Amino acid sequence: MPHSTNALQLHMVLFKKITQLQQYLAKAVTTGQQIGFVPTMGALHEGHLQLVKQSLQTTQLTVCSIFVNPTQFNDANDFDKYPITLEADIECLEQQGCHVLFIPSVQEMYPTGVQASQHYPLGNLENVLEGAFRPNHYQGVCQVVHRLLDIVQPHQLFLGQKDFQQCMVLQWLVDFLALPTQIHIVPTVRNTQGLALSSRNTRLTEPQQQQALAIYQNMAWLKTQLKPGKLTALTEHIKTNLLAAGFEKIDYVAICEPTTLTEVQEWDGQTNLVVLVAAFLHGVRLIDNEYITI
Ligand code: PAF
Repeated sequence: MPHSTNALQLHMVLFKKITQLQQYLAKAVTTGQQIGFVPTMGALHEGHLQLVKQSLQTTQLTVCSIFVNPTQFNDANDFDKYPITLEADIECLEQQGCHVLFIPSVQEMYPTGVQASQHYPLGNLENVLEGAFRPNHYQGVCQVVHRLLDIVQPHQLFLGQKDFQQCMVLQWLVDFLALPTQIHIVPTVRNTQGLALSSRNTRLTEPQQQQALAIYQNMAWLKTQLKPGKLTALTEHIKTNLLAAGFEKIDYVAICEPTTLTEVQEWDGQTNLVVLVAAFLHGVRLIDNEYITI
């Protein structure tokens, strides 16, 4: 089903069915085209479009998917409230020059039902941070991305750094499945004030988005305060600041070793770090992170 805008004569091809998408992609691959893949859950913003841009620059055929995957929501309320903006998403992708959009139904993705058919042995990645606070979330992410990678068979996969731990999980998945897919992690896109763009931000009003900036501001402050030694006082200080800024609940503020996500209690000043935050503001769970290179 071709879908095109008249203004720029862009031609993004849209598929709902796996077999039709695969026939289309098979032809492209026989002509030697490299496939770049951007998996999303829609409600697209500039962060997603950066992934598409990177894919367009790196590969010959960019495929984006929009599928709000029910199996990765540990909170039914979050799933129910997840923003759906399909028409606007299609428009954005076309304007960006995306070649193919895949929008499957739940039935198409999970014809035998949504229950998991395998357990992914993610190890510690599932016990810490997002893994600890969102039970089964990464099992659902692996389930859907495994299925999408089987369907699309991309050469390159584009992921946003905002979901730092998800990037690690998906690198683990690609290695576990021994896929030839190369992962590109694209830096977080922020608004002019520093707020990380996120589909969930659209559930916050403008003044609430101003409040949400406290996460970025505190991560920036942390960078100026880091010195070798114990780090707990810094994370505690940030938690206090976030509560004072109006956040109602903090899941974590953690300073970790970036390749393992092990929390660094005492820093030797020699290793890179990543600071990761997850906190609720007006019922919306926001996450963000900053990579700190020495
Ligand atoms: O990051 C997301 O939007 C989702 O977790 C993903 C990777 C599209 C899987 O549903």
